Amino acid sequence: MDTIKLSRVELIREAFHYQNRFEGSTMVFKIDCPIIDDPHFSSLMKDMALLAKTGFRVVIVPSAKEWIDSVLKEYGIISNYHENLRITTSESISFVEMAAFHVATRFMTLSASRVDAIIGNFVRARGLGVINGVDMQHTGVVDKVLLDSLEQVLKQGMVPILPCIGWSPVGKPYNVASDEIALAIASALGAIKLFIVSIDGCLKAGMYDMPEATEIDENGRVIRLSPQEAYRILAANTDRAQDTSLKLLNLGLRATKAGVERVHIIDGREEGAILKELFSNMGAGTMLYTDEHEAIRTLHNSDIPDVLRLMEPLMQKGVLIRRTPEAIQEKKDDYIVADIDGSIRACAALHDWGEKQAEIAALATDPAFTAMGLGRRLVNYLIEKAAKKGFERVFVLTITTQDWFETLGFKETPVETLPTRKRRSYNRQRKSKVFALKLP
Ligand SMILES: CC(C)(COP(=O)(O)OP(=O)(O)OC[C@H]1O[C@@H](n2cnc3c(N)ncnc32)[C@H](O)[C@@H]1OP(=O)(O)O)[C@@H](O)C(=O)NCCC(=O)NCCS
Repeated sequence: MDTIKLSRVELIREAFHYQNRFEGSTMVFKIDCPIIDDPHFSSLMKDMALLAKTGFRVVIVPSAKEWIDSVLKEYGIISNYHENLRITTSESISFVEMAAFHVATRFMTLSASRVDAIIGNFVRARGLGVINGVDMQHTGVVDKVLLDSLEQVLKQGMVPILPCIGWSPVGKPYNVASDEIALAIASALGAIKLFIVSIDGCLKAGMYDMPEATEIDENGRVIRLSPQEAYRILAANTDRAQDTSLKLLNLGLRATKAGVERVHIIDGREEGAILKELFSNMGAGTMLYTDEHEAIRTLHNSDIPDVLRLMEPLMQKGVLIRRTPEAIQEKKDDYIVADIDGSIRACAALHDWGEKQAEIAALATDPAFTAMGLGRRLVNYLIEKAAKKGFERVFVLTITTQDWFETLGFKETPVETLPTRKRRSYNRQRKSKVFALKLP
């Protein structure tokens, strides 16, 4: 019960913190067409409405590919592709418009959550022309984002919805890839976030060659990547460049280049995926980030000297038990660090002692960076990690920090409740107190 209360309080804290920091910022959602038919579509809409009502500027760019395919098929119109782009013929463009607007209309259900939405012609397009001898006809690219109209709509607290159609200055319609619209809009509006909401979801590690230090959860989900890491993954897997996951990663990378601080690739069929990705440390998808300012991440080999530097004064005082570089190296995967602008400012570890219990240990914050919430965030990260790994309880052995752990919901518990292996190594002379937290 305590744990549940704690996680709720933490979630509320994070949400307020986030809202304070980013209120008035723009988030663009590029949403794959099949999601509109998923049972979770209505909760996805509710979550986006919630963000809009909370003061974020929400923009929706629905993809209509599959719906266009089915409409064209129904009317017996064959779609040809050239260089991965549909050739939108004069015969098919009106059907493409119809399908694109049908999909966009499905997002008008935002009004059910009392959020006004508007489908608009916010994109001026021009034709792609002839590519390698192939006339692309009504297939176009973004010529210009009509920023003034878009800003007016956003100022009134409405959510603009942009179907995959743009018009030339003389009113000629073009089918424009929703990826390109989302990129152009995110860049023109200075969006801080682009959500790529797809049915393929996050990037999975087992399927591709990954750099060694890539942060992966227990299900193989790649949690977060810097643009450099994303480049490395794309470069190491060129033979699979056409895989949807890598195409999404490439789109994310282009968005970061266009100035978007964070790109989140999530599975739109997962309940609450947007909110989980925004408000929990571990997230729910794959995040590409350019803002190095603060990151909680796993330990890299090159961090070990910095972690020892942090721990040394505390080891000298006997607050932390002594650890050698080799001992840290051996348990490297247990450690996480708070990295601020490329420097390690806090660290912590989660050790598995069996019997579904894990120990939070080696917690230290750089004295120049205390009381900034780093300790709390590291411990919460480890609590989430432990819960996801199926542990039933986390505990900590402390001689000076009991009050602090109590504020995080930990309760004192007898040494006898420790798992057998830990109990055997318990040093009675240190007189450490045991504090524990039950996981939901
Ligand atoms: C305990 C510790 C990790 C907190 O780190 P931090 O990054 O400053 O933590 P937070 O910013 O989340 O919390 C800071 C708050 O806790 C309070 N606090 C810090 N140490 C405390 C302690 N020993 N007892 C009670 N409260 C404490 C601070 O006064 C501050 O209060 P405020 O928010 O009202 O200003 C850090 O002080 C530390 O490195 N301590 C020594 C190592 C240690 O004891 N590790 C635990 C054993 S594994």
